Amino acid sequence: MIAAVLVCLLLSGLSETAAQATKPNILLMYIDDVSPRELGFYNAPRWVGGKNIESSNESLRAKTPMLDMFARDGAYFTKAWAAPICSPSRAMLLTGRFASLTKWWYNRDYGTFTNAQGETEDFVPLYLTSPILVGHLAQQAGYKTMWAGKPGMKTADLREFGFDEGVFLPNAAFKPPSPYSPEFRIRWSTRNGERVRINVDTGEEISIGTQRSFFWKPHIDLMNFPGTTEDFTYWPHTDELRAEYGLSTYGPDVESESIIDFITRSNDEDKPFFIFHNSKLGHKAFNFIQPEKGNDYPPTPKLTWDEETRSYTRSEVTITGSAGVYETEGINDGGLYRHIEYVDYMLWQYVEHLKELGIMDNTIIIFASDNGTTEWGKGSSERQKGPHVPFVVYAPGMELTKQGRQEELVHVVDMLPTLADIMGAEDVIEQPVKYKRHGLNLWPYLTTSKRRHRIMAYAYIRDIQMIRGRLVMRDGNRSWWRVDNEVEDYDSYPPITNWSALPPRFRRERDNLIRIMRKYDVYDTAHDYI
Ligand SMILES: *[C@@H]1O[C@H](CO)[C@@H](O)[C@H](O)[C@H]1NC(C)=O
Ligand SMILES: *[C@@H]1O[C@H](CO)[C@@H](O)[C@H](O)[C@H]1NC(C)=O
Ligand SMILES: *[C@@H]1O[C@H](CO)[C@@H](O)[C@H](O)[C@H]1NC(C)=O
Ligand SMILES: *[C@@H]1O[C@H](CO)[C@@H](O)[C@H](O)[C@H]1NC(C)=O
Repeated sequence: MIAAVLVCLLLSGLSETAAQATKPNILLMYIDDVSPRELGFYNAPRWVGGKNIESSNESLRAKTPMLDMFARDGAYFTKAWAAPICSPSRAMLLTGRFASLTKWWYNRDYGTFTNAQGETEDFVPLYLTSPILVGHLAQQAGYKTMWAGKPGMKTADLREFGFDEGVFLPNAAFKPPSPYSPEFRIRWSTRNGERVRINVDTGEEISIGTQRSFFWKPHIDLMNFPGTTEDFTYWPHTDELRAEYGLSTYGPDVESESIIDFITRSNDEDKPFFIFHNSKLGHKAFNFIQPEKGNDYPPTPKLTWDEETRSYTRSEVTITGSAGVYETEGINDGGLYRHIEYVDYMLWQYVEHLKELGIMDNTIIIFASDNGTTEWGKGSSERQKGPHVPFVVYAPGMELTKQGRQEELVHVVDMLPTLADIMGAEDVIEQPVKYKRHGLNLWPYLTTSKRRHRIMAYAYIRDIQMIRGRLVMRDGNRSWWRVDNEVEDYDSYPPITNWSALPPRFRRERDNLIRIMRKYDVYDTAHDYI
């Protein structure tokens, strides 16, 4: 009897460790401001490509051999939505909820809350409105967790998001500028009694928003980083790294090198990992090394792809000079497509490292973007220009039942319940009480014969609502569009001018979508947290 109990205990102990070891690793790459049309496999006839131009010039479209492979061997979605702008999108992804619960309505429009001192603050941290974030889920499921790139969390405490470690771009709300790159920033100053912004590097007045460099000679913060003793430290944090640091240091490399090291350490500890890489590539920035170009897509290190060996080579970069006058070697001309190509290069590095460690087959890579391409069209309320994003799932070792192009609706708000399923952490969002969420678990669609995932995708900017069903879409202009046949540019849908001319199912879906929007239409009545 005792022996039997003992055997049982031993067995259950063993199977638990085995389950732990085989939990899939997850790498979530979330890039900035990139519409599906910028990626070749979406096969759109036009894209932005370079700088604010509407182009169909193939040489201005990103070459993405890794993402192409992910889309072909994994699954990519043509009807994926986020919000039209980054803050609400990030909130949807991290919480599994829309703004009716997160209170993140727009960039610079968040719900208020009352702090410990009894004062009202006009920015509510997500962990207050939404206590189970994807990081918490992963930690409770036994994952080692890392957050790299843009935090975009203003004054919130970055330690409260469920991430063990972080490598962050500058969060101006949170720290004085990096002592290692004091000149690569734009700050407010007073000149002749007037408030003006200046490029600290040149001393010139400039009409571009205050910022700190996150591409060349970047400002970078570390959270709970190995080898450091404080919760937050500036990178470079060792003498050795400081000796190498300078004008030729490229921010995204610091993120990818930290991620590769994190993967190695997780593997050494036999722990599954969850990495959230919120890359800033795709976002415009002030071009400190070519200040005459202003705010644009600054150059990246030059890359070459060898199709035969399926490998990238990154050029050595040398940048010298000072005060706005720089000589450069090993960089390209910049442009949105160059940013996307650099993302592809980072993904290649991750895949190579995972293969080397023999864990690629137990890793899932998810790729998406937070909103559409900057300055594409006049405004982001038109049709789905703002919320339409790429969405790719690559899981080479899992038997996905769906492969290649998928026409089902999917939403970044689905990330939390989907990750809960993949991580075996569904109990965390079900017990002791069901965690309220708007996202739906996508994993059954990807891994079983299930044919449908969701009936609608929803997004907002403040009180402006947009929604897309399978047949019809209402945009932020309150115009209705037929979306039952996908159009090749994902944009030029036929407008609906006469509902009577359409079969009844179109009107039925419209009425249902209006009912759904009404439920979330609480901007005026429940804008704040408390
Ligand atoms: C396409 O873009 C490349 C790179 O900017 C340029 O050299 C080429 O002339 C362009 N082709 C056309 C047809 O505009
Ligand atoms: C996406 O959001 C950025 C700011 O994060 C904004 O500049 C850009 O215009 C947005 N794109 C669209 C298509 O709305
Ligand atoms: C949407 O509204 C804007 C501003 O009122 C207008 O300029 C634009 O033409 C409208 N777009 C469509 C597609 O109706
Ligand atoms: C709308 O469509 C119906 C049915 O086809 C037609 O009888 C009606 O004349 C149309 N109305 C307009 C304003 O075109």
